Amino acid sequence: MIIGIIGSGAMGAGIAQVAATAGHTVRLLDQTDAALARAEQSIRANLHKLGEKGKLSVAAVEETVARVQPTRDYLDFSDCGLVLEAIVEDLGAKQQLFRQIESVLSVDCILASNTSSLSITSLAATCQHPERFIGIHFFNPAPLMQLVEVIPAVQTRAGLAQEVKQLLHTWGKVPVLAQDTPGFIVNRVARPFYGEAIRILEEGLTDAATIDWAMTELGGFRMGPFALMDFIGHDVNYRVTESVFTAFFYDPRYKPSFTQKRLLEAGYLGRKSGRGFYEYREGAAQPEPNRDPNLGRMVLHRILVMLINEAAEALAFQVASKEDLELAMTKGVNYPKGLLTWADELGLPNVLRTLDQLYDDYREDRYRASALLRRLVRTEQSFSPSVSLPS
Ligand code: NAI
Repeated sequence: MIIGIIGSGAMGAGIAQVAATAGHTVRLLDQTDAALARAEQSIRANLHKLGEKGKLSVAAVEETVARVQPTRDYLDFSDCGLVLEAIVEDLGAKQQLFRQIESVLSVDCILASNTSSLSITSLAATCQHPERFIGIHFFNPAPLMQLVEVIPAVQTRAGLAQEVKQLLHTWGKVPVLAQDTPGFIVNRVARPFYGEAIRILEEGLTDAATIDWAMTELGGFRMGPFALMDFIGHDVNYRVTESVFTAFFYDPRYKPSFTQKRLLEAGYLGRKSGRGFYEYREGAAQPEPNRDPNLGRMVLHRILVMLINEAAEALAFQVASKEDLELAMTKGVNYPKGLLTWADELGLPNVLRTLDQLYDDYREDRYRASALLRRLVRTEQSFSPSVSLPS
């Protein structure tokens, strides 16, 4: 199958590399030659690194690079079996693109979007053949991250999601099925990792370094929330939070914070601007955490129960299956274990008690416990997901 990719930025180039590595001819289109040249360079550099590690022969590197054919012409998509768009995150731009290219595509070509925040259904609605439209959401960097969320629109034909999942398996990916709801799985369930950490900071319960220490050293997360937000960039992270909040009709669970907004306004975007929650200029002193285990456990437990509650809500509203929820958080954001498994280990009554205590203290909807969690506790059940995570 020939794969078409539109937009050769960070995501488009990465996805092109993945498809070419799996043996597909890839037509990679961008509106500028400069972007196409950058994409080719980055694909070549990535593959060379694999070559140096002995994972790919020199010949294979060149063959793979040659399978990615840069183009500026939509007509080159006429023989593609799948065309995936990874242009700017702008509804108008994406809609205009689909209107322009659809007439060029063959009738059975699958049309997909890599959007993180737009509704797949609203994108499908601009197409003449919305039944062939689907969301295929890769994570950054696409060649390294195994998880891919597959999101059928309301209009998507039955069976297409399964076909796409099968294709992604052949690309060495771990596809999960998500309902077309804001943030899909990962960008929704992960919100409290950032939001609750900032809340703890705002209340002055402890500082960023201590919260990061608690999450990494006691919780086993690869990065703490503040280091991770600085890494992602506050422009990107704040906008995702804001878009999920808006798209959920202003549900207080997803409310953005003033603290992060102010960082954004100040231009303290994180690593890329040299300053965020932490300072990154050379020689800047790094704050020491307070390694009090009781404080650390309190912080970890509070953020963790909020994450678990979000996963429980996503399950309760059938955003994804138990297995896919666990895969999404372990493979998409490298959580040390699935949140439902973690919930069972902590004991659901314990999780519910903490949530109810928070709700009692604050009387904010943000802390309302999932009805599913409450029901499981009442009937003395657990999530007990029979999950087998691929290595
Ligand atoms: P980017 O800004 O790195 O690249 C976008 C590319 O699209 C640019 O090269 C630009 O020249 C090109 N472009 C813009 N309009 C075009 C058009 N009409 N026709 C052809 N090319 C056009 O953006 P990035 O980060 O690669 O994101 C692309 C998409 O993937 C967005 O929808 C984004 O939300 C989504 N996404 C981004 C992730 C990330 O971490 N960067 C993760 C997952 C999804």
